[in-house]
Amino acid sequence: MRLSPVDPTNPDPAVIAAAAAELRAGGLVAFPTETVYGLGANALDADAVARIYAAKGRPSYNPVIVHVPHTDAARSVVTTWPATAAALSAAFWPGPLTIVLPKSADVPDSVSAGLPLIGVRVPAHPVALALLRAAQIPVAAPSANKSNQLSPTSAEHVARALADVEGLILDGGPCTVGIESTVVDLSTDVPTLLRPGGVSVAALESVLGIRMLLQGPPAEAADAPRRSPGALDRHYAPHAPIRMAPLGDPLALATTIDALRADGAVIGVITHTVFDLPFRGDVVVRVLPPYAEGYASQLFAALHELDVTPVTAIVVEAVPDFAIWDAVRDRLRRAAT
Ligand code: TXA
Ligand code: MG
Repeated sequence: MRLSPVDPTNPDPAVIAAAAAELRAGGLVAFPTETVYGLGANALDADAVARIYAAKGRPSYNPVIVHVPHTDAARSVVTTWPATAAALSAAFWPGPLTIVLPKSADVPDSVSAGLPLIGVRVPAHPVALALLRAAQIPVAAPSANKSNQLSPTSAEHVARALADVEGLILDGGPCTVGIESTVVDLSTDVPTLLRPGGVSVAALESVLGIRMLLQGPPAEAADAPRRSPGALDRHYAPHAPIRMAPLGDPLALATTIDALRADGAVIGVITHTVFDLPFRGDVVVRVLPPYAEGYASQLFAALHELDVTPVTAIVVEAVPDFAIWDAVRDRLRRAAT
């Protein structure tokens, strides 16, 4: 893909207009959002949407989120707008929340992977919003990576992952949230969390005034119809396998590393509480912030960094059990599967 630099806070209208024209002509445009970079195409053009699936090697059963610049546009791609949607959109849009509701017939079935429901969100990024406003069409956009690999939090990540793909990348620098949106199904009376993400369940529930349902664990759901097909797969994975080590235990971390080294592995380490690992030579250590928000914003970037080194195994220190770490814990669990 071709890189096109753009000021992240004050995007040049000419650059945005050119990218919007490519979208309207059926092309692919990768763009920054506050969560991760998306790989965008005209959501109303089935051929353009097919290009997304082909570029990512994405299975046809995994639906794509539609991006729009404001709530009115969101309402045009769905057939209902319950009070839960009104409340959550008012509280969290623009922002890292995807709302799932019955799909309007205007949107091709491939966007929702044949499901009757569609996911929609208003991203909180000046470049994304400018692009969506200029394009004047809803934009289908999954994360801009190959299917099941690491989500991109910079334009370089996109360029590397999608080197073989034709299209444009709007380079607006690193993403701030760094982890994907929270996906919530509002098609039933009691909302269901389909994917933890940038907005916490506690924040959603405090606006809703009721408890949400949490989608069951993968084992339970194995035979059931998949309500959020992408949410059950191994995902967000670097090339090297991930081995988890206990939280806040330098000795256990060192022992895990040593055991893998003894087997000949080249080790990458991601920790957030052990700051002075005494390893030399070929152990590549990334120390992330010890609080959930900071950790989330840097996790994918750290995994991408390790992905381009010769490491053959990545040891990751477990994160706390608190709800505020749910999205991070979800991504680590799925990367380590
Ligand atoms: O933050 C984000 O959500 C990023 C940026 C680009 O907006 N996008 C993103 O898209 O993460 P993707 O395609 O990588 O993940 C979308 C997730 C998948 O787990 C998918 O199964 C679920 O949302 N999803 C999308 N549409 C759905 C639908 N109609 N019903 C149920 N789940 C849906
Ligand atoms: Mg993805």
